[in-house]
Amino acid sequence: MRILVLNGPNLGRIDLRDSAIYGDMNFVALKNLIVEAGKEMNLECDVRQSDSEVEMISWLHEAAEENLPVVINPAAFTHYSYAIRDAADMVSAPLIEVHLSNPMSREEFRHTSVISGVANGTIAGFGPDSYRLALIAISRMAK
Ligand code: DQA
Repeated sequence: MRILVLNGPNLGRIDLRDSAIYGDMNFVALKNLIVEAGKEMNLECDVRQSDSEVEMISWLHEAAEENLPVVINPAAFTHYSYAIRDAADMVSAPLIEVHLSNPMSREEFRHTSVISGVANGTIAGFGPDSYRLALIAISRMAK
């Protein structure tokens, strides 16, 4: 089964951000980890990253049109993008929100997710394993 794994702004430079929060893995390594974890579960993971809200929305439209499950780390869009929320709401296949860090244990502005209400579930705080756990959830929901 093919799925989209969408990553929002600044995640393409994850290795240059605060390593105490995000670890040392760069985006290419993260992408490889997701692809390999997906293969173990018979999921073909199409992993993408964009700093553009417009592009993220177009990818969610693609998921809605092609009925593809989605794992999404909306990054900072999580906290304010109603446009991404509305696009995510149009996806009828399972959609899981993930975060590397636990936004609830960070600054107050990160405590709000405008995406969670339209996601099937949220997994946060486990570093790259957040994605692995989301893939497990997707593969179980597909059965
Ligand atoms: C993040 C958490 C967000 O608050 C932040 O803006 C990010 C990354 C995470 O994966 O922990 O860019 O989504």
